[in-house]
Amino acid sequence: MIVVTGATGTLNGGTVEHLLSRLPAERVGVSVRDPARARHLAERGVRVRQGSYEDTAALRVSFAGADQVLLVSGNDPTADMVSLHRDAIEAAVAAGARRILYTSQQGAAFGGPYPPAAVHAATEEILAGSGVAWTSLRYGFFGHSFDALLGPWRETGVIAAPDDGPVPWTAPADLSEAAAAVLSSDRSFDGAVTLVAEEAVTLDDFAGIVSELSGRSVERVVVDDEQWVADQEARGVPEQAARFTLTMFRATREGYFAERDPLLGELLGRAPRSVADQLAAQMRA
Ligand SMILES: NC(=O)c1ccc[n+]([C@@H]2O[C@H](COP(=O)([O-])OP(=O)(O)OC[C@H]3O[C@@H](n4cnc5c(N)ncnc54)[C@H](OP(=O)(O)O)[C@@H]3O)[C@@H](O)[C@H]2O)c1
Repeated sequence: MIVVTGATGTLNGGTVEHLLSRLPAERVGVSVRDPARARHLAERGVRVRQGSYEDTAALRVSFAGADQVLLVSGNDPTADMVSLHRDAIEAAVAAGARRILYTSQQGAAFGGPYPPAAVHAATEEILAGSGVAWTSLRYGFFGHSFDALLGPWRETGVIAAPDDGPVPWTAPADLSEAAAAVLSSDRSFDGAVTLVAEEAVTLDDFAGIVSELSGRSVERVVVDDEQWVADQEARGVPEQAARFTLTMFRATREGYFAERDPLLGELLGRAPRSVADQLAAQMRA
């Protein structure tokens, strides 16, 4: 059995759907914080058990009988996520999992400007020391909404943001599908694997893509870091949130997300959705 955590969330919810198109439902289980939100899965024959990273006893029960466990990375900035991930990994080991998978992020590393990268790197170290086979799915930045990244370009005709570097913005739907391919494959994916769209783009590239899609000329303007934080605050964004986003711009321009890898396309058996594909879909919505 494959047990998936975070199955009431976007990414791993999509992974469960793709697993169900590849495997019989009795081979799929989910460990979710609120089973009532997974009723649609129980009705289709998926084993639904309650589990949260804060309750290791429940986690062990929800992982029982699992050959593979897919752990979602938590996203609570106030929690000690590394400890919670450690608890979840230990619960999967105690439950007898043969392989533990984890939704990491491209650029997982210590010492960089973007704080989540260190959480992912620390979690990967715990996986490496767990004594169980492991796969860290280093996902590209999700292209789920480019609004916050691009700002009010529709009104201003300008993408005004700090200096940036290339990022292979990746469609969450492609990542969900690829995770299901990894989980159901006969091939072993050991250690960290990078799953990213083919093309890494900068905000200069975005200005070109947006201009083409919208039929109007959109200009990219580089804004000083501190000025950008002040501009964000003036638009009602809390300073802490603006400074967090700034760490992402710094990491992109320092090349933390520049790495390319063909694996996502190989797993999908087609080209991953490009930034232009994702942006066009969002502009149509
Ligand atoms: N690569 C990127 O660009 C990027 C961007 C954003 C986030 N991420 C990471 O990718 C993860 C998945 O993204 P997503 O879009 O699917 O997020 P999402 O829709 O918010 O789903 C997160 C899932 O994690 C579950 N979860 C959170 N904390 C948990 C805990 N302590 N114990 C057990 N389950 C817990 C949530 O449970 P409930 O359904 O009960 O809330 C939810 O199902 C995020 O959590 C974040 O770490 C990556």
